[in-house]
Amino acid sequence: MGANVFWRDSHAPPGRIEEGVHVRIAVLYGGTSAERDVSLVSGLAVGLTLAERGHDVLLVDPAEGDSPIGTREAAAAALINRDPPAVRHETGSAIAAVRGEAVRSADVVFVMLHGGTGEDGTIQGLLELAGKKYTGSGVLASALAMDKRASKVILKEVHVPTPQWRVVTLERELPPDTRGGSPTFPADVAVDEAAGAANELGGYPIIVKPNDQGSTVGLTVVKEERQLLPAVKLAGEYSRHVLLETYIPGRELTVAVLGGKALPVIEIAPKSGIYDYESKYGKGMSEYTCPAEIPELLSDQLKASALTVFAALGCRGYGRVDYRLSPTGKPYCLEANTVPGMTELSLVPMAAAAVGISFGELVERIAEMSLK
Ligand SMILES: Nc1ncnc2c1ncn2[C@@H]1O[C@H](COP(=O)(O)OP(=O)(O)OP(=O)(O)O)[C@@H](O)[C@H]1O
Ligand SMILES: [Mg+2]
Repeated sequence: MGANVFWRDSHAPPGRIEEGVHVRIAVLYGGTSAERDVSLVSGLAVGLTLAERGHDVLLVDPAEGDSPIGTREAAAAALINRDPPAVRHETGSAIAAVRGEAVRSADVVFVMLHGGTGEDGTIQGLLELAGKKYTGSGVLASALAMDKRASKVILKEVHVPTPQWRVVTLERELPPDTRGGSPTFPADVAVDEAAGAANELGGYPIIVKPNDQGSTVGLTVVKEERQLLPAVKLAGEYSRHVLLETYIPGRELTVAVLGGKALPVIEIAPKSGIYDYESKYGKGMSEYTCPAEIPELLSDQLKASALTVFAALGCRGYGRVDYRLSPTGKPYCLEANTVPGMTELSLVPMAAAAVGISFGELVERIAEMSLK
């Protein structure tokens, strides 16, 4: 490992992880999912702020193997294009990354991979086997949170309202023991039965989305039946299971969780009306209010709900739980995110800032929780 792969600002104040002791941190970022671009930006922001705080930081992109990436190269690559990148199907380089010197020599691995194998428990499993400490949720919680239907079944168990749903499975025609990883229930339907399932949800509009994708990739608001099959087909490009969900009109709210506590609620108002990829990552495409202008009682209810969701899924460290607030004031939980965006414009850093936690402190605290 060459010295050029490290960077350290020797004038930076010591990290609070242990007074005067700097920690070696490998930031896994980039990856092979459709959220690769976002992860390149999140990971760079995390890496830079940790380095500024005096830690030894190595940026490693598992899509590229185990060679650490210099800051200049990382900065040049950190760009969220208008459309999400295509999913890459390779796993060997992730194994190499976890077995490589950068990860092996790290005190803690900061997992900044959004979506795909970086957020669904796969990389977490590799890190477990490698005996490494890593940030955020473990294997099962990551897998459950990534699988929206699995999450919803659990939400029901703990009485957290979630929009009604049906699942269209592209594997319905396969024998049960040859189907892929996600659970399949008797009520799931094949593609040619999707229209019937949609009608049982109470009519249009409905939301059609991949069961295990993020950043609104592959999601369609279906307003009438003739849009249904193209929407199922699009979502099917990202997942073997497609979720049909009752559309909840109203407001968009999210609750960040940090170290067992819920941070102030954020309200998001996307200018386009839907919180899609462009509204999430395009500058000025959404308006954010934190703390959200909602009654205190509702804010308390949402925070308690987010902690319930977090505990029910077995999440650890930090994350974010997304909600829709119906016009009658009822919150519906959409999903939990175990590796939420961590760019300086992202929602968890925004909620942390509202209680006086700077981006650097937030990132350091996340690393610190995993070290203990
Ligand atoms: N049932 C629904 N009713 C209304 N809007 C919805 C519904 N489901 C999803 N949406 C809209 O689509 C966005 C993305 O949905 P969701 O949070 O389920 O998926 P995601 O792609 O995993 O998001 P993230 O980027 O947070 O990982 C929501 O923030 C919301 O604006
Ligand atoms: Mg979401």
